[in-house]
Amino acid sequence: MDIHVVDHPLVAHKLTTLRDVRTDSPTFRRLTDELVTLLAYEATRDVRVADVTVQTPLAPAPGVQLTRPTPLVIPILRAGLGMLDGMTRLLPTAEVGFLGMARDERTLQPATYADRLPQDLSGRQCYVLDPMLATGGTLAASLKLLVDRGADHVTAICLLAAPEGLDSVKAKLVETLGDEHNALLRVVTAAVDERLNENGFIMPGLGDAGDRLYG
Ligand code: PRP
Repeated sequence: MDIHVVDHPLVAHKLTTLRDVRTDSPTFRRLTDELVTLLAYEATRDVRVADVTVQTPLAPAPGVQLTRPTPLVIPILRAGLGMLDGMTRLLPTAEVGFLGMARDERTLQPATYADRLPQDLSGRQCYVLDPMLATGGTLAASLKLLVDRGADHVTAICLLAAPEGLDSVKAKLVETLGDEHNALLRVVTAAVDERLNENGFIMPGLGDAGDRLYG
């Protein structure tokens, strides 16, 4: 499992405004969208391409194009939906699948309430969108679902992650996949915060992303 924290002043600036309790919902949505596009630029660094040649008005020129099958982008409902436009702006030909997951506020365990993903994900590069990686339960559950359907590479894009959640996802991957876990998952995030609080919220975090996006 590879963790990439995007170190860029524009990312830090937008994240700071997102954290600010005074930022209203419309601004929060717009900034999430902008921030995701910046994160997506880093997250797609390893998107699969094939060499092609195009004809310019003057001569043949070597280039690349995305290979088929096209990448699959998976926003985790509900909060991940706020990240979809920012992602598909960079990958307009991507297919979009939806996973609905909600964390029980008491047990912190995720439950899947919607699954609109292709049955066969063999050979697909998957990009999971979820603003918060807190205990890591939601990411671990979505990963299991994707791997069970044949996905061999998953990039999770999140605005914020907690160290406990990253450790937990990694431990689960090592337990199920051994050394192969390194090749399966990449987490791209704007920041790894200090810790989780007793309610499973990232500290200092930005509050409940779903509520701040959608009320
Ligand atoms: C939040 C968040 C993640 C999940 C992270 O969603 O958007 O999906 O919790 O927590 P975890 O890492 O501890 O699993 P929530 O369940 O609150 O649903 P929502 O998106 O509908 O608000």
